[in-house]
Amino acid sequence: MKSIVILISGRGSNLAAILDAKLPANISTVISNNPSAGGLAVAQHQGIPTLAIDHNTFPGREQFDQALIAAIDLHSPDLIVLAGFMRILSDKFVNHYRGRLINIHPSLLPAFAGLNTHERALNAGVKIHGCSVHFVTSTLDGGPIIVQAAVPVLPDDDEKTLAARVLVQEHNIYADAIRWFLEDKLSVVNNRVHVRGVDSGAGTLLNPLAS
Ligand code: GRF
Repeated sequence: MKSIVILISGRGSNLAAILDAKLPANISTVISNNPSAGGLAVAQHQGIPTLAIDHNTFPGREQFDQALIAAIDLHSPDLIVLAGFMRILSDKFVNHYRGRLINIHPSLLPAFAGLNTHERALNAGVKIHGCSVHFVTSTLDGGPIIVQAAVPVLPDDDEKTLAARVLVQEHNIYADAIRWFLEDKLSVVNNRVHVRGVDSGAGTLLNPLAS
């Protein structure tokens, strides 16, 4: 059975959704850079070992990333899943795990890479927003996209309502992407991820709807 290490920084709702999906994998450990992350308790409730490595106790990014690599490699994971992990990772870290490091981002990449995605989507006036699961490369939020889910932006939305609508879809697509990885269904050709044996949605999503 393949093994996964999950990195978090916060409440851990994506982590919870991944655990609920009962994937055919061993979740070896959950590591947080934030010792008070709510997600640590989520993992502990399910008997998964946890570790906090507080980035504030390191002189710089390189040293923190080195400690993180050491902690992860103890488990020799097949896949490292960033689930709301809010630290930029050094090139050294990203290259060490190239091809087996994935992230979820709350926008339809490449739109709105970086922070405050929902606020920026509202300010840009987009009608469709969403989330993306992607392989991590050294370009911030820029690696090959595995799966995306789109949601409408409604006229009365604020950041909170839009974030909540997107989050429901984050919880849907992350477990799917991990399952495909575990089943060796993913391949990357010219920056495009192909998912073997999974149909693409062929419908057109319009918002507002044409009459
Ligand atoms: C999610 O929206 C994720 O996409 C973003 O941070 C949030 C983390 O939420 N990077 P949670 O900790 O998984 O609940």
